Amino acid sequence: MGLRAMTCHERIHTFYCFFLVLLLSLLCTHVKADGKDPFFQDYQHETSLIVPIPQSIKIDLAKARLGKLLFEDKRISKGDKKACVECHLPHLGGVDNEPLSMAINDKPRTTNTPTIFNAGLLPMLGWRGTGTSLEDVTEAVIKSEMGLAMNWPELIEKLNAIPAYQKNFTTIFKKTIEPAHVKEVIAEYVRSLITPNSRFDQYLRGNEDAIILEEKRGFELFKSYGCSSCHQGVNLGGNMRAPFGLFGNYLQDKKDKKDKTMTDRRIYNNNNQAQDQNLFRVPSLRNVELTAPYFHDGSTKTLKEAIEVMGRYMLGRDIPKSDVSLIEQFLQSLNGELNGEAL
Ligand code: HEC
Ligand code: HEC
Repeated sequence: MGLRAMTCHERIHTFYCFFLVLLLSLLCTHVKADGKDPFFQDYQHETSLIVPIPQSIKIDLAKARLGKLLFEDKRISKGDKKACVECHLPHLGGVDNEPLSMAINDKPRTTNTPTIFNAGLLPMLGWRGTGTSLEDVTEAVIKSEMGLAMNWPELIEKLNAIPAYQKNFTTIFKKTIEPAHVKEVIAEYVRSLITPNSRFDQYLRGNEDAIILEEKRGFELFKSYGCSSCHQGVNLGGNMRAPFGLFGNYLQDKKDKKDKTMTDRRIYNNNNQAQDQNLFRVPSLRNVELTAPYFHDGSTKTLKEAIEVMGRYMLGRDIPKSDVSLIEQFLQSLNGELNGEAL
């Protein structure tokens, strides 16, 4: 084209070329997001926009109430030893605030207990993000040696011998107790545990005064540092996986420090092939102030430290203390309400 000015025709041509390249690159990103790269797996599961938690969701109350009874009942575990609620406590943000909870065999579990609040809004469950439904996770917990160490025949027999359960299940399902129904009612209870109406959600809904200036600044920093490229969607997380970290390798660093709390589990793809061990689901940040200690290993006691670790491993920078404080303040505005009561 040389140095002469472009003709109108050439300008249009250049514009179309530019447009085509842009379109192609967008398509490529899309293909990549859809494809094998584990970092982008399931990326577009849900919208990336940060939106409020719905004020209410449709729940079958009879099922949820029955599920709550089971959730709080040790008798659904081997030897009547453990109930779901011992690790997931509703008055402690849906966790137990321990780095690692004690499993039924009195050994610490290998990962920190995540909250059950808003879990029904998550497209992927567990620290690895490999769980796909609350029903499946419930079954896995019931059967796992690290969970309730139960098996279906024994559990169904036990429940059948308890008149209240027998009556409740028959009233709801018009049938004798079945594993699918046990999973369903527990899952329905967990699904009912949403925490809407945080001050930040009120702000998103248009109430400018629901959060203070510092929290607004914190939210701006959360976006400008790039936290929201991973912690996104209604739960500010939970809809994609990412390596821990993108700058340095958290697990390798723990290994180098001979840290005993090393988790040694790999994530498997559909062909049962081991993938990056360092890949984790981006956790939700809803009610995060209440769910210390942080990370899959429960290694980090305070939210400030967690934000600093994120800066270092995910963004490759040391976030200045003043910005860490503002981001922390923003995160604290994410505490919601459970059944109309502030958490
Ligand atoms: C001994 C403690 C313990 C008990 C008892 C327990 N859990 Fe959990 N729960 C955990 C841990 C630890 C994880 C994370 C496992 C992982 O992904 O590594 C978890 C994960 C979950 C998740 C996924 C949450 C998320 O953010 O993805 C749900 C849902 C859940 N549990 C429900 C239950 C139910 C229902 C029961 C009872 C049937 C139960 N739990 C009993 C410790 C416990
Ligand atoms: C590249 C994606 C990515 C970016 C960017 C990112 N995070 Fe994370 N975040 C994760 C992952 C993955 C984890 C879980 C790590 C683990 O525990 O194994 C996590 C964990 C956390 C936790 C701990 C949550 C819990 O329940 O234990 C907090 C808090 C957090 N991030 C805040 C932030 C903040 C604030 C920023 C920006 C400064 C940020 N994150 C940037 C992916 C990201």
